[in-house]
Amino acid sequence: MTNQDSFLLSFEGIEGSGKSTQIQLLTQKLEASNYTVEYFREPGGTSFGEKLRSTILESTTPINPLAEANLFAASRAQLLSEKVLPLLSKKNHIVILDRYLDSSIAYQGMARGLGIETILDLHEHPPLNTRPICTFYLQIDIETSMQRQQNRGNEKDYFEKENINFYQNLIDGYELASTRFPERIQIINGKSDQNKIHANILSALKEKTGIEL
Ligand SMILES: Nc1ncnc2c1ncn2[C@@H]1O[C@H](COP(=O)(O)OP(=O)(O)O)[C@@H](O)[C@H]1O
Ligand SMILES: [Mg+2]
Repeated sequence: MTNQDSFLLSFEGIEGSGKSTQIQLLTQKLEASNYTVEYFREPGGTSFGEKLRSTILESTTPINPLAEANLFAASRAQLLSEKVLPLLSKKNHIVILDRYLDSSIAYQGMARGLGIETILDLHEHPPLNTRPICTFYLQIDIETSMQRQQNRGNEKDYFEKENINFYQNLIDGYELASTRFPERIQIINGKSDQNKIHANILSALKEKTGIEL
């Protein structure tokens, strides 16, 4: 059971949209207000999940889309039952996920062509039916993503090697998820400066949870 004072939040958006940057800013702010913040990245977060993470991200051969969707779901189910749900049953805990359900919708549902319903079906049963109280979708365009990835300059992984068309599908997937789940997904303009984005995230958080920081 989820404790009333504990919340699950997720951050979504294509590579370079500012997820890591904003998670760090929000974590600092929450910790200053005496919340205990736990952060997990997907896929991964458990030792089983980290193994799946490297299996997926370091793959040099194409993975079948349904296999890929199920690998992500397996990692997620383990993360939820082993870590996230026990934390949420405590007091004053905020769990922040760097990518979650909407990444599956965008990547496997849209970009890999499985369709949104296949992904939602996979997430109907416990623990995969767990939904964040609020999802921040950092919305940027492909050019901004490419520019920021270039600036970052680290080696590209399995997904980052994909072409422009793939990126457009991801954006379409996030837009579709946002339309389908408007109550949960908060669209944040990821192109403004990082302090402005941070302020927008804080006001969206206040609106959804009543938490004022
Ligand atoms: N609002 C912003 N404006 C300009 N650059 C940003 C902004 N937010 C993040 N960046 C930079 O863009 C790059 C990608 O940001 P990051 O937070 O790592 O994105 P993600 O985790 O979504 O891939 C980093 O080099 C970061 O410093
Ligand atoms: Mg990141």
